[in-house]
Amino acid sequence: MRLGPTMRRSFGLVVLMLAAPAPGATAGPLPPATARPVDFARDVQPILARHCYTCHGEKKQKAGLRLDRRPDALLAKLFTPGKSADSRLIRLVTAADPDDRMPPDGPALSGEQVGVLRAWIDQGARWSSADGDHWSLRRLAARLCAIR
Ligand code: HEC
Repeated sequence: MRLGPTMRRSFGLVVLMLAAPAPGATAGPLPPATARPVDFARDVQPILARHCYTCHGEKKQKAGLRLDRRPDALLAKLFTPGKSADSRLIRLVTAADPDDRMPPDGPALSGEQVGVLRAWIDQGARWSSADGDHWSLRRLAARLCAIR
C-alpha cells in the first residue's frame, strides 16, 4: 500500500510525538555525582546562592519555597538523602524542557554543578554551616536569655 501525502504527514507527526521527551524528562543521562566529599558551605551554597536565592531566598519565595534555610528546604521534600537520581531537585535542574527547568531564566546549571548537588544529596545532604543552623542557635540563645 502506498501512503497518500496526508497519511504520510500524520504518520510523521505521530513519530515526532513519540520521539518528543515526556514532560519533566531530563536531557539525557544525569551528570555523575562528583566523586570527592562535598561540603555545603564551600560547594553547595554558592551554587544555590548564585542560581536560586534570587527567587527562593530571604527576599522572594516563589512557589512559597526558601532554599536558604535548612528546615524550609527539607520540608519541601525535594530529595531523600542518599538518592539524588530520584530527587525532584535534580530532576528540576536537569529538565530538558526550559519551561520545566530551574532556574527558569538564564542558562541551566552545568554538569559539574549538578554533580556537586548530586554528591551532596548522596553523601547525606548535611547542612554544615547554614542559616538554618544559625537560626536554631539564635532561637536557643533567645530562649536562654528569656530564662534569666
Ligand atoms: C527567576 C526566578 C527563579 C529562580 C532563579 C529559580 N526559581 Fe525555582 N521557581 C520559580 C517560580 C516562578 C516557581 C513556581 C512556578 C513553577 O513551578 O514553575 C518556582 C518553583 C520551584 C520549585 C517548586 C516547584 C516544583 O516543581 O517542585 C522548586 C523545587 C524550585 N523552584 C527550585 C529551584 C532551584 C533549585 C533553583 C536554582 C537552581 C531555582 N528554583 C531558581 C522561580 C525561580
